[in-house]
Amino acid sequence: MEHLSIAFIGAGNMTSAIVSGMVKNGYPSQLITASNRSLPKLEKLNADLGINITQDNLEAVAQSDVVVLAVKPQFMQEMCAPLVEAGAFEGKLFISIAAGLTCERLYEFIGGKHALVRTMPNTPSAVGKGLTGLFSENASQAQRDFTEALFNMVGTTVWAKDEAQINTVIAGAGSSPAYFFLFLDAMQQKAEAMGFEPQDARNMVQQAMLGAAELVCASPDVSLKELRERVMSKGGTTAKAVEYFQDHQLEDIVSGAMQAAVDRADEMSKLF
Ligand SMILES: NC(=O)c1ccc[n+]([C@@H]2O[C@H](COP(=O)([O-])OP(=O)(O)OC[C@H]3O[C@@H](n4cnc5c(N)ncnc54)[C@H](OP(=O)(O)O)[C@@H]3O)[C@@H](O)[C@H]2O)c1
Repeated sequence: MEHLSIAFIGAGNMTSAIVSGMVKNGYPSQLITASNRSLPKLEKLNADLGINITQDNLEAVAQSDVVVLAVKPQFMQEMCAPLVEAGAFEGKLFISIAAGLTCERLYEFIGGKHALVRTMPNTPSAVGKGLTGLFSENASQAQRDFTEALFNMVGTTVWAKDEAQINTVIAGAGSSPAYFFLFLDAMQQKAEAMGFEPQDARNMVQQAMLGAAELVCASPDVSLKELRERVMSKGGTTAKAVEYFQDHQLEDIVSGAMQAAVDRADEMSKLF
């Protein structure tokens, strides 16, 4: 992968996850600069990873080929305005990780149709198991390859065919770790109600999830239905549990929840 100088504006949770993955994968720390409003997060990044830090966004952008827009969506406009005014954004590749900000809106904020890749990472990026959705209207192939390689350092990536699909990535991967946490929490509670200590109950359900996820990944040619059927025997315990889920319309619940996330993402894209 080409090693370009790169500035992260906003040094919060997501930046910290991505930068950790980059440095662990051998990206030269001297090419990475993080800029943030307050100092403590920057000092930690510098101490842990040896990257450059500054509280001056202009300084970070001026010394970088690539600018990662990593502040919360509601702060994006006010963060960009002085940099546009200073002419600091000319000729850069922009990578946005902000949920709900469309390319059209981002072009307004960055002062023109500069090369831009809109991305949607998720929190498992913090442990190198992220899934990042990518979309661009105007980035060159080299810029796309660079962005894809960047996010592959914290997991895997999928390109959206059109911008609307970014909201599908939100429903399917951005938000979905929380669906699994909800499901596991319910399982842990039930195991506790049946007499297990909280730590044992948690170990049991988290190990089952980890094992199931590894099995899915290790069996790319086996359908999820087939994997499920391999656990079930006719009239057995798993069959009874699955029947109960199906009688209570689990598929409809999941479909409705994902649709609710997509609808909210649509609404949010009109907010900022
Ligand atoms: N967390 C997720 O699960 C997730 C997933 C996908 C996408 N995202 C997107 O990633 C972006 C960052 O999220 P996050 O969870 O990392 O948020 P976060 O932890 O709140 O980090 C945002 C950082 O931006 C800094 N900031 C705000 N205004 C600034 C400015 N004008 N100049 C420089 N720094 C500024 C804040 O500094 P102070 O703390 O000093 O105010 C804060 O450290 C958001 O746009 C979010 O939509 C997040």
